[in-house]
Amino acid sequence: MKTLIVVGSTGVIGKEIVKLLRSDYNIIEINRHSGDYQLDIQNAEAVEEAFRKIGSFDALISAGGYGKWGSLEEHSLQDFHDGLNSKLMGQVNLFMIGRKYARPDAVFLLTTGVLAHRHRVGSLSLGMINMALEYFAQGVALELTGDIKINIVSPEFTTETLAQMGEDTSTGIPAREAALLYKRALEEGKTGEIYKGWKE
Ligand SMILES: NC(=O)c1ccc[n+]([C@@H]2O[C@H](COP(=O)([O-])OP(=O)(O)OC[C@H]3O[C@@H](n4cnc5c(N)ncnc54)[C@H](OP(=O)(O)O)[C@@H]3O)[C@@H](O)[C@H]2O)c1
Repeated sequence: MKTLIVVGSTGVIGKEIVKLLRSDYNIIEINRHSGDYQLDIQNAEAVEEAFRKIGSFDALISAGGYGKWGSLEEHSLQDFHDGLNSKLMGQVNLFMIGRKYARPDAVFLLTTGVLAHRHRVGSLSLGMINMALEYFAQGVALELTGDIKINIVSPEFTTETLAQMGEDTSTGIPAREAALLYKRALEEGKTGEIYKGWKE
């Protein structure tokens, strides 16, 4: 059975990814507070140590990392830095360090979200991070010469998250549907793709 690392496996989306894929993959879970390895993806040394212990793997899905949700007035400079360090650089860490341990045909899936392409009050940090990460993944895919693949999954707001935010859930997609997008991205064999879970 192939080994799949899922970072953010206890989250709204991560939980559904694990449920969907656990019969097909040997799943290793990484989060800050639970899972097989507990670490913050911002911490490059901790990330390296976990990969060293895990050894080779076939695929990595990252559905973790923090970015502030809040209006311009609610953002401090530190809030921007926190998101850039966590959701952006944390996922860059996972790829840059993980590729040294990955099998030659491994697949990396990093997560952005609809806010890269849809401005709303609240989305400043997350939108910036998402756009930068999409540029990173597509740039990396362009330069990779071997068989390693890197793709982005960009979910729509999930109905579960909209409900938590007290917002209208009718525009969202169930987290289970987002998980199906990861499965497709994992198994389709493409690289440099942005798998969009939302309509333009
Ligand atoms: N939910 C949505 O509607 C939606 C829509 C579009 C895009 N997204 C994006 O999809 C990703 C997952 O969203 P979600 O709603 O499922 O998140 P979530 O429910 O907040 O869960 C986040 C998961 O990531 C782990 N995590 C968070 N920060 C981490 C860090 N620094 N290092 C290691 N693990 C960390 C958490 O576990 P610990 O707390 O134990 O670390 C948890 O398992 C995020 O990037 C989010 O921006 C979400």
